[in-house]
Amino acid sequence: MDLKSTRPRPSRALDPLLACTRWLALVSGVPVLAGCSGIQSALDPAGNDAYEIYLLTIVMTVGGTLIFVGVTALLLYAIFSRPEQRAWLGTRRTIVYGGLAFPIVTLTFLLPYGLTVMRDTDVPTADALQIEVIGEQFWWRVRYPAEQGQPEVTTANEVALPIGRRVTVTVTAADVIHSFWIPNLAGKIDMIPGRVNRFSFTVERPGVYRGVCAEFCGDQHALMAFDVLAMEDAEFSAWRAAQAAPAREPVTPFLERGRELFRSGGCGNCHAIRGTEANGQFGPDLTHVGSRRTIGAGQFPNNIGTLGGWIANTQHLKPGVRMPSYGMLTGEDLRAIAGYLESLK
Ligand code: CUA
Repeated sequence: MDLKSTRPRPSRALDPLLACTRWLALVSGVPVLAGCSGIQSALDPAGNDAYEIYLLTIVMTVGGTLIFVGVTALLLYAIFSRPEQRAWLGTRRTIVYGGLAFPIVTLTFLLPYGLTVMRDTDVPTADALQIEVIGEQFWWRVRYPAEQGQPEVTTANEVALPIGRRVTVTVTAADVIHSFWIPNLAGKIDMIPGRVNRFSFTVERPGVYRGVCAEFCGDQHALMAFDVLAMEDAEFSAWRAAQAAPAREPVTPFLERGRELFRSGGCGNCHAIRGTEANGQFGPDLTHVGSRRTIGAGQFPNNIGTLGGWIANTQHLKPGVRMPSYGMLTGEDLRAIAGYLESLK
């Protein structure tokens, strides 16, 4: 049993320590930190690993601010007070206590504290859920290897997680260096071509979070995000089973036409839709693209309108992505393809 999972969950409103540190951050002159809650914020931790990193950040920020203010006050005092008033600043006692003892004691406490945070976060466990993520220009290839009788799942730009269970994310990159970061849940990890990096964390609070690429990787680095869905165990199993299933068959002539256009347009050379002959591996797997919250790697809400707009205007909406714009399609055809993709729940 992982000891850390027995600790109380950090909850946004109720945890007095969290509220207290926010308040301290506010009064110590960093109001920016105090207001940063939300789905993409390291200052709104939703798991124990993120919580420990958060506390470390607050201790360092508040402590550093207080020391800076104190030293600045002493400096001003030394400059503007009368010579006989400031004489004590130059005594051996002041130098030994303030200049030697204080920094030594402070750093001596901070080092083991920092090392403890390192020891307690990013701890892999044998029963951790395994997820593989590959950074691409400019999206995320996500794979859940088969485990305990559950089949493998491939998706893109969306990471589902069960709460309370350790998760180990194994990352690499296909082209250039990216960095995988879910600010609410854990620290960052570099995705390096030809190298496999691994890190572990636990999410405790269900909800939707936003992950981002944290390493400049090209034109569209800033538009490389993904959705993180943290859910109860049973819900996660259902999600996994649904994602593992082959794609839905079109149920209306309109959707049938969309699938036919998808096929004849050659979309299947780059995209896979399991259950059809589309088996391209170049772009995101679209088997259940309709079930995702967003498209374009976290850029637009997922609906028939944005899907159609995306297909026709990829190079306008996100210049530099590998997918060309299919602006030659008629409105009717676009609607049919988008409708078909939207139906792939
Ligand atoms: Cu991928 Cu920045």
